[in-house]
Amino acid sequence: MEKKITSSSPFAKPYPWAITLLLLPPSLLALSYLLPYSADLRLPFIVTSCGGPSPTATTKATPTAEPDFRLLIGIHTVPAKYHRRHALRLAYFLQQQPTASPMARVSIRFILCNVAKEEDQLIVALEIMHHDDIIILNCTESAERGKTYTYFSSLPAMFEGGERPPYDYVMKTDDDTYLRLDELVKSLKGKAKRNVYYGTGLPFQDREHPPFMLGMGYILSWDLVEWIASSEIARNEPNGIEDTLTGKWLNSGDKARVRYNMFPKMYDYRGGEGNDFEAETIAVHQLKEDLRLVRTLKHFNVTTGLKASKLYHIP
Ligand SMILES: *[C@@H]1O[C@H](CO)[C@@H](O)[C@H](O)[C@H]1NC(C)=O
Ligand SMILES: *[C@@H]1O[C@H](CO)[C@@H](O)[C@H](O)[C@H]1NC(C)=O
Repeated sequence: MEKKITSSSPFAKPYPWAITLLLLPPSLLALSYLLPYSADLRLPFIVTSCGGPSPTATTKATPTAEPDFRLLIGIHTVPAKYHRRHALRLAYFLQQQPTASPMARVSIRFILCNVAKEEDQLIVALEIMHHDDIIILNCTESAERGKTYTYFSSLPAMFEGGERPPYDYVMKTDDDTYLRLDELVKSLKGKAKRNVYYGTGLPFQDREHPPFMLGMGYILSWDLVEWIASSEIARNEPNGIEDTLTGKWLNSGDKARVRYNMFPKMYDYRGGEGNDFEAETIAVHQLKEDLRLVRTLKHFNVTTGLKASKLYHIP
């Protein structure tokens, strides 16, 4: 249905995006905020860059250009946390910087186990129809009962048949962590792509070769994801404190010889004042309370682009 806009209409001067939205079918609407579109995975992704000329809002990224690397970020969360998913989608959407020469392709997905409740099933289905950014695993919703094992070990089969490898790196993070995508991408530029274990290592004394990386956010190269999927070591011990367990599998299998310790750029929330944050922050963790997430977003100026208008006022 199309309606001609006349000069007497209150929408006499429609914004260009309003017209675009009217013309797009609902299925494309979801993708439009995560352009460009990845035909290979049929899922939206974000292209980020660092350095080079400052991109403008109108610059279109070239979906066909080969990125330096592909990164899958899996945000582990639970079905009922709609509100948090909504806030994170907005926060990450506002960080995307399309440029003509993308250096990384970043796909952000929410990771759920079997959706048991009827009320969640419907809403999650609607979210998938609209955003297409959810992966549902066959597991029980509990970090200590094998969710991380199921996550890594399910990915190779889930992406079978597409590009090889579908991603260079896979991250596991949580819904109480906020990642600064540009800093994350910058920190991975030029890094090894095999045998890689990246994150904030514990204990802090062993900076060079930490036995494990904290669960707030760690990355494995794709070869290690495939190794977890086929390893007896991981299959025999899927349950436990998830971050120490991942380190244990890798150490037992003599894997992940390349360890990148990003301490102190990934850290727990310390407060909302300027000096509570590091200049080159990659991740802030412990943001379960909305107010902590909000203060973190505020510090990193996510709403700087908000235009003044007679139509709203936000202090
Ligand atoms: C999920 O896992 C259970 C137990 O391993 C299995 O019986 C079931 O068939 C799986 N369901 C799906 C949808 O793969
Ligand atoms: C946020 O913006 C203010 C004002 O422009 C600036 O002084 C500050 O450095 C910015 N903060 C960050 C973390 O970029």
